[in-house]
Formats: sequence, structure tokens, C-alpha cells
Amino acid sequence: MPVDWTSTRGRMLELELDHDPRTGRRAAVEAALREAIRSGRLRSGDVLPSTRSLAADLGLARGTIVDAYSQLAGEGWVTSRPGAATTVSATIERGDGVGPRRPANDRPATRPPAIAQPDVIGLSPGLADLGAFPRTQWTAAVRKVMQTAPDRVLGHVDPQGRLELRSALAGMLARARGVVADPERIVIVNGFTQGLALLSSVLRREGTPALAMEDPNLPQHRDVVTAAGLRVERVQVDEHGAKIEQLRDLTSTVFVTTPSHQHPLGMSLHPDRRASLLEWAIGCDGVVVEDDYDGEFRYDRQPLAALQARAPEHVIYAGTAGKALAVGLRLGWFVVPPGWVDRMVVAKRTADAGTAVIDQLALAEIITNGVYERHVRKMRISYRQRRDQLVAVLAERAPDVRVEGLAAGLHAVIRLPVGGPTEAEVVEAARAARLEVAALGPFWHRPGNHPPAVLVSYAAPPAHAFTATIERFADVLADATRSQRPSRR
Ligand SMILES: Cc1ncc(COP(=O)(O)O)c(C=O)c1O
Repeated sequence: MPVDWTSTRGRMLELELDHDPRTGRRAAVEAALREAIRSGRLRSGDVLPSTRSLAADLGLARGTIVDAYSQLAGEGWVTSRPGAATTVSATIERGDGVGPRRPANDRPATRPPAIAQPDVIGLSPGLADLGAFPRTQWTAAVRKVMQTAPDRVLGHVDPQGRLELRSALAGMLARARGVVADPERIVIVNGFTQGLALLSSVLRREGTPALAMEDPNLPQHRDVVTAAGLRVERVQVDEHGAKIEQLRDLTSTVFVTTPSHQHPLGMSLHPDRRASLLEWAIGCDGVVVEDDYDGEFRYDRQPLAALQARAPEHVIYAGTAGKALAVGLRLGWFVVPPGWVDRMVVAKRTADAGTAVIDQLALAEIITNGVYERHVRKMRISYRQRRDQLVAVLAERAPDVRVEGLAAGLHAVIRLPVGGPTEAEVVEAARAARLEVAALGPFWHRPGNHPPAVLVSYAAPPAHAFTATIERFADVLADATRSQRPSRR
């Protein structure tokens, strides 16, 4: 018998009846339900369709379904009470051809969560203070979207992104970062990572062999580029940021950079180098990808306007909601020169047909009603206080380390003393104290004799645990530093 769809109380149940004339219809329904339970499609507590609707959908007499349910109840597969829905028994477990009355906690293993060990406090860079996410305002924005958006909004998505969001971003980016940001130049992406992947796929399709990136940078970003089939060429970084003169010796005409706050080291690109970078891009008709991942968070100096403001035809400005709000939103924006719009939009459409529309509209709403910028202002004050506290606690408890990269952003670079512990030793000691910090090592393009350092987020720990967390980390550092013999390295 063909597959049937049954809908009851909003529940859909696909049943494939293997109708054998020798055993009859009732047995076929029973067998199909047993199989659905064994395979885990129906789980303990799931409500079965009413006998009337299942009979109607399968084209069988209601009595056949009543009898089948009652047989399964007798066998312990389902539970029926007069006047109540029939449900899959609480003691049922699925899998391996197992029958009823298995203990309910005997479920098959599920995939472990990506971020395990909830009792470990994450201090690796990358996360904002998630406890501060403006949940109430986001909920209000989603409610407003759902109450006001016409049905057609739920249809096919513009792969470039909703105009409401592109317009809201254009206004905010022009105001806050000086970006030349016509909504027509903006492409909405699922975070910077996807934007980089789209850009790489465009370049690859057009025959570009390589793309230049800062060394060090986020290893995951190098992976994105190489996964698209491009080679990564490196541009080294010193205390003034990327060494722009190295670009002239490379084949790449596209350079991905973090000029406002080098990631992960934390310096900003020297004004002379900003000028040479733009000269290079104009001279070779190339493109600078300005990854402004934490452009909102400046503490000790006036924010530098985006590079894009000075050469909008040669700079792709990339932003993300990951630092200002939460990385889990997976929302970002690429402001591209006019010649890039169609190429990026086609790549986006090919990749996933567009970003989830309710989230786009909710973000547009909180930018337009001022919540986004108020939240950024509030977090800037909070992160600055946290940063100052981290510096003070380390100075007091672990004076042998040097703390760098502090003028902006959400993390600090902790330089380990010469002759002190290795990065791996500090990471391990932190883990033993149930803290997760990142070694700088993997950020370098090539292994080498790099000065050891770890990266520590002061944004990520929950507010209630912040002081205790950084004190614990400072003690880990102090212990690790003390326990090293000077001859070790
Ligand atoms: C250098 C850099 N750029 C961009 C991002 C943002 O990436 P996404 O928007 O994909 O979360 C991050 C996130 O950690 C980052 O470290």
C-alpha cells in the first residue's frame, strides 16, 4: 500500500502499510506502528492520531484502527485511557528491534553537543557576553515582525537580503563607521565566515589562484579559503599591523585584513600603512576585505573610520552581529563595490538561497528602533570595566606575564615570560582549573619559534562569575610560571 500522511492535532505521521491479504489490514496497521516505534520515529509520550482520523486517512474502517490500538496496548506498546489520546508508552524504547518495556533511560547515544562540559568556563576569544543578549527586545522585535509582516515575506527570500535590513545597516554603518553603504551594495550573509566562503567561491570560479591573509589570523578563516580551492598567501604582522609592502611580492590581488584591530594580536594598522594599503589596491585594481569584526568596541581612542570610507571601489567592508549581539545569530553583512554585488548575490543564492528572513527582519527592527546601538554602548562600558579588572588582577597575581592588544575588542593577548611555561602547559593547567583558554600557536600560518602567548576573552565569562574566573585564571598563570625551571626552553 502506498505511503499515507495522517495529521492529527497538528501531528503528521507517515505510515507505510504492508498489506498482506493473509494477515489482514489490522495486522498491517499494527506492524507499521510497531515499526515506527522501534525505529524511533515515534517516541515515548508521542500522541497517536485519533482512531477516526487515522481510519479516514488510511481509507480503513475505524473499527480496524480501534482493534489495532487495543492490540498494541495489550502488548505494552501504547497506552490508551478512556477519553484520552492514545500515546506511545513511557516504558517503550526504540532501536535494535527492541520491543516494549525497555527502561526509558536506555536511549541510544546522541551526538555530543559541540560545546561540551558546561562546568568549564570558556575564555577563548570569539564570544560576546551572551548573558547580556537583549532577549526581551529581540523577542519584541520578532513579535512585531510576526504581527505585521505580510504573508509574502515568508515566501522565497531575496538572496541579497531583506531591503529593510540593508537599509537599516546602511544608515548605521554610515553613521557609526563612516562606511559608504548604499543598501544596493550590501549583501546579507550568515556571518563573516559565510561571506568569506562566498567571496572565495567567486574568486575560484573566476580563476583566481590565491588570496592574501594576515599571519597570524583565525585558522578557521584559512580553512574556508582553502576549502574553496584557493591558496592562502601570508602577509606578516608587526607592531604596526600588517606589513603592507609584502603584498607587492605576492600574486594575490585580494587581501583579507583586520585593520582596526588585528585579529588576534590586537594592534591597529598604522596610518601610513592604511594609506599604502589603499594605494596597493588601487594600483593593482585589487580588493581589500576589511574584516571589521569588532569595530564597535574601542576603549582608549577614537574609533578609526572604516578603510572602506576612503576607497569604496576597492574595499569590501565586512561586519557581523557576532560580537555586538551573539555569534549564534549567524548574521553578517558585506558592503561591496558595485561590480561585486551580482557575483556575491549569485554565490549566496547558490549556497543557500538566502538568510532566514525572520531573523533579518528582527535585526532590522532593533537597529531601526535604537536597541542595537544602545546595547553596543552598554556593552562597551561593561567590556572596558572587565578589561581593566583583568589587567589589574593579572598585574597583582601574575606579574610575570605581559598583557597586550587591549585598546579594542573582547580579548587580551597574554604573553608568557621567557623561560616560563609553554602555551600548551598553560592551556592544560587552565583546563585542569576548568577554564578554557586558546593558545596563540594555531593562529600562525607556519609553526616556528613564535613567542608564546595565550588569548583570553574578558567578554565571555558570565557576569556573576567574572571576578572569580579571572582570579582563578591569574592563579593558574602564576602557578604555571612559578613551577617552570628556567632551563626548560
Ligand atoms: C577575525 C574575525 N572575523 C570575523 C569573525 C566573525 O565571524 P562570524 O560572523 O562568521 O561569526 C570572527 C569571529 O570570531 C573573527 O574572529
